[in-house]
Amino acid sequence: MFIGLDLGTSGLKGVRVDEAQRVMAEASAPLTVQRPHDGWSEQSASDWIAAAETVLDALSAHGLGEVRGIGLSGQMHGATLLDSADNVLRPSILWNDTRSHEEAADLDGDPQFRRVTGNIVFPGFTAPKLMWVQRHEPALWAQVAKVLLPKDFLRLWLTGEHVAEMSDAAGTSWLDTGARDWSDDLLTATGLTRAQMPRLVEGSAVSGKLRKPLADRWGMPGTVVVAGGGGDNAASGVGVGVVRAGDAFVSLGTSGVLFAANDGYQPAPDTAVHTFCHALPGTWHQMGVILAATDALNWYAALVGQDAATLTAGLGALQAPGKTLFLPYLGGERTPLNDAAIRGAFLGLEHATDRAAGTRAVLEGVTFAFRDCRDALAATGTRFDRLLAVGGGSRSDYWLRAIATALDCPVQVPVSGDFGGAFGAARLAIMAATGAGAEIATLPPIARTLDPDPTLRAAFDAGHARYRAAQTALRSLP
Ligand code: XUL
Repeated sequence: MFIGLDLGTSGLKGVRVDEAQRVMAEASAPLTVQRPHDGWSEQSASDWIAAAETVLDALSAHGLGEVRGIGLSGQMHGATLLDSADNVLRPSILWNDTRSHEEAADLDGDPQFRRVTGNIVFPGFTAPKLMWVQRHEPALWAQVAKVLLPKDFLRLWLTGEHVAEMSDAAGTSWLDTGARDWSDDLLTATGLTRAQMPRLVEGSAVSGKLRKPLADRWGMPGTVVVAGGGGDNAASGVGVGVVRAGDAFVSLGTSGVLFAANDGYQPAPDTAVHTFCHALPGTWHQMGVILAATDALNWYAALVGQDAATLTAGLGALQAPGKTLFLPYLGGERTPLNDAAIRGAFLGLEHATDRAAGTRAVLEGVTFAFRDCRDALAATGTRFDRLLAVGGGSRSDYWLRAIATALDCPVQVPVSGDFGGAFGAARLAIMAATGAGAEIATLPPIARTLDPDPTLRAAFDAGHARYRAAQTALRSLP
């Protein structure tokens, strides 16, 4: 038996799977984000532990005496800062926090960062956040003994060890992504040393053993191994079997991700495409990342006083994009813009605009943002001819049909829903505990396929052209 834990932004989810990868139990605990200033996004690391305790309590109701391994998946890029006694120094600064845009631009101006990491230094990545702390919280900076990514803080609690794995480490701006090792040069350029970084393992390798007090607390054996795991996108890739070139998925979570597996390291550091290590040894992946996918829908749902599921359930069959246009840049954008300052917009409002028209516009706006990501990936030579859908937003067929039509690519929904990060983490736990490899990361059985609607293709092309014009106009606003 194996456990996968996925530390998301809106909640922590856990699954318990058997030796045949059947999901036997699942549990989740909600998390909230604090936004004390414009562009800031923080969580307290103690809330992550509390959420993990809630989830493990729930999973243990069914007995955890046969657990052999635990795998971890988590929101990427967050900076969790510890002193030399492993005390948390400040709230964790999350992936969608853009306060460090000036520091990111400074680091990005140093050519070795793109050359070594294969990526732009985005404000959401970890290194510029440390530079922000150095500039704005010098007393705290002086105490930083370790920098951990969110799921690696959970690992510290589980195992007592400071360990990171390649897929998440690739989002820090400190990793030599081709060599799969910390870059001493990049660490030095940000005033840090390797001693402040966790040890690195592959996602499918053992990172440590579950601490005895925790094993006793939940009735687990004393021999449970904790796998390296993966950043949530790489872990989802393992969960849906997107581990070979040509396979791709679209993730409709708080963020939106268009993810394609690559056989080799194919950096495109002049674009806003992300090139990271995959969670399996010797593999890499590319992705386009938009900062607000279900985040935009949930924002709109709160605005109009309705829950997101009710809003999307009432939409009926896919329609051509209407006059109302939405741009989902609630907290800036990564791919393809790398623009922390841009903000969203509703355009084309008229007397007839009602709640449903607004909902369709939000879904279409995120869909057009995915099309921008598709174009960015295509410009680097990465192609795919179908997409698997993961994440909470994939429950909306309207949204998936819009994406299929706008990207002109069939979208497939896995059977029994959640083949997300938690399931991928459980697969990585199986690999770490049994020595199995990529062969167990199979593609899931498909429940349904949403094909592009050829009668609406031209309308979505025109809608995307309008979206691009609005984007240009937004960027020229003071
Ligand atoms: C990826 C990214 C997001 C988070 C969300 O670069 O920032 O997808 O991982 O959890």
